[in-house]
Amino acid sequence: MSKLTAAITGVQGYLPDYVMTNDELSTMMDTSDEWIMTRIGIKTRYILKGEGKGTSDMAAEAVKALLVKTNTLPEEVDLLICATVTPDMQFPATANIIADKVGIRNGFNFDINAACSGFLYALVTGSKYIESGQYKKVVIVGADKMSSIVDYTDRTVAPIFGDGAGAVMLEPNQDGFGIVDSILQSDGVGRVHLHQKAGGSVKPASHETVDAREHYIYQEGQAVFKWAVSKMADVSVEMMEKHQITPSDLAWLVPHQANMRIIEATAKRMGIEKEQVMINIEKYGNTTGGTLPLCLWDYEKQLKKGDNIILSAFGGGFTWGAVYIKWGYNG
Ligand code: UT7
Repeated sequence: MSKLTAAITGVQGYLPDYVMTNDELSTMMDTSDEWIMTRIGIKTRYILKGEGKGTSDMAAEAVKALLVKTNTLPEEVDLLICATVTPDMQFPATANIIADKVGIRNGFNFDINAACSGFLYALVTGSKYIESGQYKKVVIVGADKMSSIVDYTDRTVAPIFGDGAGAVMLEPNQDGFGIVDSILQSDGVGRVHLHQKAGGSVKPASHETVDAREHYIYQEGQAVFKWAVSKMADVSVEMMEKHQITPSDLAWLVPHQANMRIIEATAKRMGIEKEQVMINIEKYGNTTGGTLPLCLWDYEKQLKKGDNIILSAFGGGFTWGAVYIKWGYNG
């Protein structure tokens, strides 16, 4: 019997209704469409509005539609993993809340916190349960309501982020399609450059932490940028070399959507053309856990069985990684 691999058999995304433009941001802070487009490459981002709405609401919409699309009953799902840094609450895991909203009750669910690399970490973790032969249907969700931790008076952070969710179904494959290999890495030394100062056990929420705006994203943009450019490219090139994938062998690079300049630098180091890169940053901004599945969703129709695809990400932690997939179906 040939080796069991974990193949993506369906993709689905969800975006909230409200579209925030650069012009709207310019009314809230000293910025401009021109600066944001030149330095980051984002035109619009989607924002989840409404009292009591959280990450799980977007994720549940994506998962419900994914189950319909893949002809899966909720009771057939063995495992649901949610990658997020904006959980509905500190506990329980958002994955449990999503599963409840979708009616998934026969499996188990947990969250992974690896910031912008979260979807890759979750995808690889989920794939191991399939490869072991233990489970048949694993749902991987990447979802974030970044607007809940963005300071809309901070022009160095606010333009970058948006809200959104994406989900994929993983199922066993014996024909060599699916996740071929992964390289995942992290280095906690980088946490000083990108984090949320308060709200955890070190600094629980207090009037002081709220007054000091410590529940918002703290980011040293240039340091993050330098690390992201080098690590995302390093790991993607390493994956190409390891599997002797030449630039023309690669159908798609699916990069984390944080900054157009980071995406371009990664593609350049890999020696590939812009036409080989999935890009939707202009529409959605950086949805953290959501970027990679939202890219796959947007480009699903263009994907062909057998396509060589490299997914690559870098994020808070620091965390980064690349996953090599042999795509399993015609989109
Ligand atoms: O997934 C991981 C998440 N994060 C990232 O990947 C972020 C990585 N970093 C970046 O994308 C970029 O560093 C930023 C987009 C955050 C900033 O771009 P930059 O080209 O590194 O700008 P900078 O921080 O060097 O700032 C240049 C200037 C500064 O003004 P002065 O000091 O030269 O007068 C900033 O105050 O641009 C100013 N600036 C802005 N101006 C207009 C910073 N943000 C804005 C803004 N509008 N939104």
